[in-house]
Amino acid sequence: MKHEIKLIVAGALLAAGAAFVIAAPVAENWENHCAKCHGADGKGQTKVGKKLNVLDYTSAADQAKFTDEQAIKVTTEGAKDKAGKERMKGFKDELSAQEIKDLVAHVRKFKK
Ligand code: HEC
Repeated sequence: MKHEIKLIVAGALLAAGAAFVIAAPVAENWENHCAKCHGADGKGQTKVGKKLNVLDYTSAADQAKFTDEQAIKVTTEGAKDKAGKERMKGFKDELSAQEIKDLVAHVRKFKK
């Protein structure tokens, strides 16, 4: 009986540890998945960001151009231009819904 409890506790700890590894901190996700285009500072002044003409997330005017719902949708599913060419890929296979929500909140924080 005692032994069984120990096993259950060990299993629960393992599961908690695994969840912790999967959900990376938002700043780390931004750096790894988004900064290449949107910039570490959210201004989009990277080589790729300039080429794709991304918005400046420190600008209130640019922040007003999209809703949180749209931001979540784009980050989840990606965005294409009118010709159907991909502008940003979707991250639904790499990030959880919670991580995407956290990233959108992160995007909002760049606004001055
Ligand atoms: C390959 C470059 C690239 C990467 C990497 C990238 N984005 Fe984007 N992102 C874009 C482009 C380009 C747009 C504009 C899409 C359009 O034309 O509607 C965009 C649009 C968005 C939007 C909608 C608001 C807006 O600016 O139009 C959000 C929110 C966003 N990106 C967040 C993210 C997040 C979060 C990540 C990382 C998980 C990320 N992006 C990674 C290029 C990128």
